Amino acid sequence: MKELKIFSPATVANVSCGFDVLGFCLDTIGDEMVIRTTDKKGIHITKIEGYDLPFEADKNVAGVSALAMLNDAQPDYGFEIEIYKNIKPGSGIGSSSASAVGSVFGMNELLGKPYNKTQLTSFAMKGEALASKSEHADNIAPAIFGGFTLVKSVAPLEVLQLPTPANLFAVIIHPQIEIKTAEARAILPKEIPLKDAITQWSNVGSLVHALHTNDYGLLSNSLKDVVVEPHRSRLIPHFDLVREHALKHKALGCGISGSGPSIFSLCHGNETAQNVAKAIQNIYSKTKIPFEIYISEINTEGIKIL
Ligand code: HSE
Repeated sequence: MKELKIFSPATVANVSCGFDVLGFCLDTIGDEMVIRTTDKKGIHITKIEGYDLPFEADKNVAGVSALAMLNDAQPDYGFEIEIYKNIKPGSGIGSSSASAVGSVFGMNELLGKPYNKTQLTSFAMKGEALASKSEHADNIAPAIFGGFTLVKSVAPLEVLQLPTPANLFAVIIHPQIEIKTAEARAILPKEIPLKDAITQWSNVGSLVHALHTNDYGLLSNSLKDVVVEPHRSRLIPHFDLVREHALKHKALGCGISGSGPSIFSLCHGNETAQNVAKAIQNIYSKTKIPFEIYISEINTEGIKIL
């Protein structure tokens, strides 16, 4: 019997203008999981702590991605999975992705690493699809590759690793309400005006250029979303107020993290991040909604063995 313990990080998908394609990885919040081999064939979820989630492998996000890998690898043994969940489901910081990624990353290590990162992303997408009813990889890719990633295409799957400028911090506020990704996707329009599409792809292109050139001004100017945020921001109480105060305290940009309700602010330097966190905390404390705030550097390593 072999086993290992892993840290599976939270992630921010979309990064304002890059709906379903851009994401980055956090390092101060994530799940822990134990994966071990067992003589009993199949996938067996033996422990879940933190949140109430199904133990049946085919109903659990970590189980579904694990089954996808198991069916492909066909080992003559099985795997047990323990999940220590810190990321609240429905928080908008990649809770389902962390589970989906954790099982396949751990199994790949125990199998002797037959699969590369893109293949791991592909297996994990099966688990993510169970939670969000859609196969997208913008949380999964940064959890596996670390740093900023761009999902160039899902079929065939192609993930690009983007550079992470130094000294970049994320402030995350997580209002304690739940928004289901499937529901946040259902409210989006099927078509968008050409002028909005032009603004959006101009911002995605310039954001990628800013990451390559360490241009914080351009990064700031590109962190805008005219396509998705106008529809989803109304699901998040006091979103506009949070953004106003984050920008007033020199955040480079502020937007919805994934499908919400978490809101991220990107900041140049820890001092700015602390100031932004304090400002957001002051504002949100005046509401009746409980919340949590995290400050995190961008995690360029991604998921790891503990
Ligand atoms: N790109 C996805 C969305 C991320 O915004 O719906 C959440 O899974």
